[in-house]
Amino acid sequence: MNNVAGKVAIVSGGARGIGGESARQLAAHGAAVIVADILLDEGETNAETIRQAGGEAQFIKLDVTAAASWENAVAKAVSLFGGVDILVNNAGIYIPKPIMESSEEDFARLIAVNLEGVFLGTKICAPEMMRRAETAKVGSAIVNISSAAGLVGSRNAPIYSMTKGGVRLFTKSTALEFSRKGIRCNSVHPGLIDTPMGGMLLNSRGSEGSNDVRAAIANSHPIGRIGEDTDIAAAVVFLASDDAAFITGAELAVDGGVTAI
Ligand SMILES: NC(=O)c1ccc[n+]([C@@H]2O[C@H](COP(=O)([O-])OP(=O)(O)OC[C@H]3O[C@@H](n4cnc5c(N)ncnc54)[C@H](O)[C@@H]3O)[C@@H](O)[C@H]2O)c1
Repeated sequence: MNNVAGKVAIVSGGARGIGGESARQLAAHGAAVIVADILLDEGETNAETIRQAGGEAQFIKLDVTAAASWENAVAKAVSLFGGVDILVNNAGIYIPKPIMESSEEDFARLIAVNLEGVFLGTKICAPEMMRRAETAKVGSAIVNISSAAGLVGSRNAPIYSMTKGGVRLFTKSTALEFSRKGIRCNSVHPGLIDTPMGGMLLNSRGSEGSNDVRAAIANSHPIGRIGEDTDIAAAVVFLASDDAAFITGAELAVDGGVTAI
């Protein structure tokens, strides 16, 4: 299971949180990983953690909103590890403001990182992923990190929800455009996950430190707990792997049942 041995993965937002753990799990399953992020120290540290554990990893600075930055990431993946087989479009930002309090700057920033970042990553990595797929047993894979808020509306973060709904459908369009070109594309929809961003969501509902707020939110998940980065990374590795060879255009909720209600 989870066969990614010998593949090369780029993980955007790979310095910490869900992307950080996805990078570690991909490397633990045998992929060489480009940890790509704007956070230089945390990115270098995560790549070093992977190497210390016996995996292959390199940090590179990537701003997902800049095409030139993606071109540099692909060039580095080719020169260091020979190509790109897996792209995890994970980098994202969260701005928890209702519609009436959201500014045009908030809107533009959310669109730039959460939507344009996914578009640019997909478009700029695709040619190299197609080239690698020509000689691969199964082919290449893109995993887009959307959200439970990309499946249902959000009271707290409507513009964020709009971007994540966009990622959900862009995933399906990508799957259709690339399915005969050797690239599968699927989306993962996390519920509340205990990361720095998850902390922002807890803060927006009350106090991050408050056990009452945490307990109430944990209880709102049918499974009875908040998610961990490991929960999401496991889904990412599966969808990126050859075991998911016949899965494309799918959306996988990894949300403790929140969107089943
Ligand atoms: N944590 C949650 O509860 C939750 C729930 C649903 C979906 N998600 C999604 O999961 C993904 C990861 O979230 P997380 O919880 O790990 O958040 P996080 O804030 O802990 O990590 C996000 C990472 O993305 C990076 N990043 C932000 N802007 C970037 C840019 N312009 N270029 C490159 N990197 C950039 C950050 O530096 C950071 O390392 C996001 O897309 C998020 O929307 C998270």
